[in-house]
Amino acid sequence: MNDVDRRAARPRIEAAVRHAHASAARVTGDGRAAQYIPELAKADPGLLGIAVHPLDDEPVLAGDVDVPFTLQSVSKVLALALVLRLENDTWLDGLAVEPSGDAFHSIVRLEEEAGRPRNPLINAGAIAVTSRLPGATSRQKSRAFTEYLRELDARPAYRLDRDVYRSEARTGARNRALAHFMNHHGLVDDPDVAVDAYFRQCATTISARELSGAALFLAGRGTDPRSGRSFLAREQTRSVLAIMAMCGLYDEVGRFAVRVGLPAKSGVSGCILAVVPGSMTIAVFSPGLGAEGNSVAGMRALEVLSNDLELSLFD
Ligand code: DON
Repeated sequence: MNDVDRRAARPRIEAAVRHAHASAARVTGDGRAAQYIPELAKADPGLLGIAVHPLDDEPVLAGDVDVPFTLQSVSKVLALALVLRLENDTWLDGLAVEPSGDAFHSIVRLEEEAGRPRNPLINAGAIAVTSRLPGATSRQKSRAFTEYLRELDARPAYRLDRDVYRSEARTGARNRALAHFMNHHGLVDDPDVAVDAYFRQCATTISARELSGAALFLAGRGTDPRSGRSFLAREQTRSVLAIMAMCGLYDEVGRFAVRVGLPAKSGVSGCILAVVPGSMTIAVFSPGLGAEGNSVAGMRALEVLSNDLELSLFD
């Protein structure tokens, strides 16, 4: 049995998922649901779902894996994958790929660095990516995004959580400021369209079970082994994973590298998507966030899984 087979052996994964769920359940009360989008503040911090999807097997599930949540910043990874595919590139003009060391909505460096976002996973960079989705209106861009999701998981439709969308649109002055600032610097054509499409993309709902399946191509060098379909070229997939590893957890990315050691992306709804290249995807969901805006129980679950299954890329 080679290393990947050993890590992916099902009984071992099942035991690790049970352990991760029990351990993470003890800390769900330590975090607080995101408050800055009023609709997200209503989430039950006691929810906890874990979905581990091996490339060659059905997902191993525990807890609230079918409870829908909004993708929030995890959508940034999927929008990036789509734009890289459409532009047939591994790198996006105008965007750096350096860790920011700042909060996800930081505007500070944008000012210092002439409107050039540090990476495509902080809000500024993600809004610039979304502005490159096909379509002239925010609805068209949003449709291109949900269409891609539908293809990824072969599902009929993805729903927009209108309450979360409206709540964020009402309170998203800072994101609007970022978009307008980038427009001033020539990186975003129509800032109002870009930011509205971004709010829609963030408010698209998914469950942990679905997310682990939809992201499988990221573990499979761009190909989903269930269908054999390629959604991204191998080198583009490598680029997305490298960006996730360097920039996916904002100013907690270093701690995450030490504790978990995987490319990952978090969202303020409490989800974290982690990828074990060549082996599996992991989607965790628990709405209570720590000070840096990442799910406390989700982090704990990933730490246990990484330890028990020896998943760290640095091991
Ligand atoms: O831009 C926002 O405020 C949100 N819609 C997404 C932010 C987010 O999920 C940050 N991630 N931890």
